[in-house]
Amino acid sequence: MKNKAEIPANEIEKQRDIMRKILEASQARQAKPLAYIDTYGCQQNVSDSEKIQGMLAEMGYGFTTDEFAADIIVINTCAIRENAENRVFGNIGALVHTKKKKPTQTIVFCGCMAAVPETIEKVRESHKHVDLMFSPNALWRFPELLHRTLTEKGRVFETAIDDSAIAEGLPAKRDGTVKAWLPIMYGCDNYCSYCIVPYTRGRERSRAPQAIVEEAKALIKDGYKDITLLGQNVNSYGAGLSEKTNFASLIKMINEIEGQFLIRFMTSHPKDAGVELFQAMAQSEKAARHIHLPFQAGSDRILKLMNRGYTHEEYVEKIAMARKLMPDIIITSDVIVGFPGETQAEFEDTLRLIEKVQFDAMFTFLYSKRPGTPAEKLEDNVTRAEKQVRFERLLDMQNAISEEKHKKYIGKSVQVLVDDRSHDERYPLRARTNGGRLVHLNGTEDLIGRFLQAEITHCNSWALYGEAHTNAL
Ligand code: 5AD
Ligand code: SF4
Repeated sequence: MKNKAEIPANEIEKQRDIMRKILEASQARQAKPLAYIDTYGCQQNVSDSEKIQGMLAEMGYGFTTDEFAADIIVINTCAIRENAENRVFGNIGALVHTKKKKPTQTIVFCGCMAAVPETIEKVRESHKHVDLMFSPNALWRFPELLHRTLTEKGRVFETAIDDSAIAEGLPAKRDGTVKAWLPIMYGCDNYCSYCIVPYTRGRERSRAPQAIVEEAKALIKDGYKDITLLGQNVNSYGAGLSEKTNFASLIKMINEIEGQFLIRFMTSHPKDAGVELFQAMAQSEKAARHIHLPFQAGSDRILKLMNRGYTHEEYVEKIAMARKLMPDIIITSDVIVGFPGETQAEFEDTLRLIEKVQFDAMFTFLYSKRPGTPAEKLEDNVTRAEKQVRFERLLDMQNAISEEKHKKYIGKSVQVLVDDRSHDERYPLRARTNGGRLVHLNGTEDLIGRFLQAEITHCNSWALYGEAHTNAL
């Protein structure tokens, strides 16, 4: 069935024509042109970079990690917090030198920061070495935008975000061979008051289930063993599609695909996660026993100000429901410390929630004021120093919980999927348990891509360490 948000095939074909044109030009050159891609932010951004990489490969580009050798540099940015933005600006500034050495170099600025009016103005005025800037929703027109940049005089800015569409049929070139990111939806309609994403990635829209299942099948056929379904709020998958479907059915459909692989997903929003999802996970043997369920705050007043749509108690109940159906489920979360006006007592509510839930791991963020968001206008009377003290208290508490949880693995044999190599000579492999905990593993590279038993020997608060048992297969 046709998805009404989908871009017509002839429009995609136009982009393909342009890719062929650029390929001819690339092939006519003495040396293969080289691209350098620098990606910031979340997995959605990593997935977008894989598309950019796929399109560049089809246009005849090779890849390099040397900025000075690159004919094109693509900076795929993240706007979620100010420190991410500062890092991007630091690196963009440094590209003045690479371009000075290689004046033909094309510099591309894309990703979420390319949809923020203040940033667009700053790049236009103060970073004149940036040749092309485009927002996440214009990604599917990258060939056309690049062609214009290479052939027209002047810089190209395609920064509107009203283009809330879905493009099927464009290539992707993935970096890994074991783990794959598979976007199932784009954009966000939740408008959490602190968050910039609804303003950078536009309205929520879902891909057709058939397109997702076909892509999952192709990935599994290519040998991928760990598939992460991506969306800002995967629980609202299917809203707006002409056929009636939802995330729980999608998990079941993917679970039906033959082969040994794991289904992961992120991110779930607690307001929409419920018994139907947990049951679908419990009934699907390929669904990893892990849920990342950001709670953000433990105070009901702050949750309301954040526009999260659930209370402290409701969150705790959902976790209990998930654990009842899947006693071994790994639960991870995100939390923000220092939301404007958060009192000491309200911060203690967050600690109370952490104490109650006993998360396996957590990503902890200091609130960062984002331009254009409702929270930007809230009064804040808590000092930065006080926020830092709270941040560290929370971190200490969670680290102790994570370490306790990890200690329970020691001496046990657990099934892991070896997904990558590492730089550590003593533990040259990286693996993940079914629940997604990182395991540094000894063993040889031929084990990459295999499910095997590992004996856990020690741990810290963030990871496990173990020995591979290949004979246990
Ligand atoms: N400040 C701090 N953290 C934020 N996050 C999102 N927006 C902000 C912000 N303005 C965090 C949330 C989200 C994670 C991806 O980033 O915890 O779940
Ligand atoms: Fe991803 Fe959000 Fe950063 Fe955009 S702003 S790259 S959606 S984390």
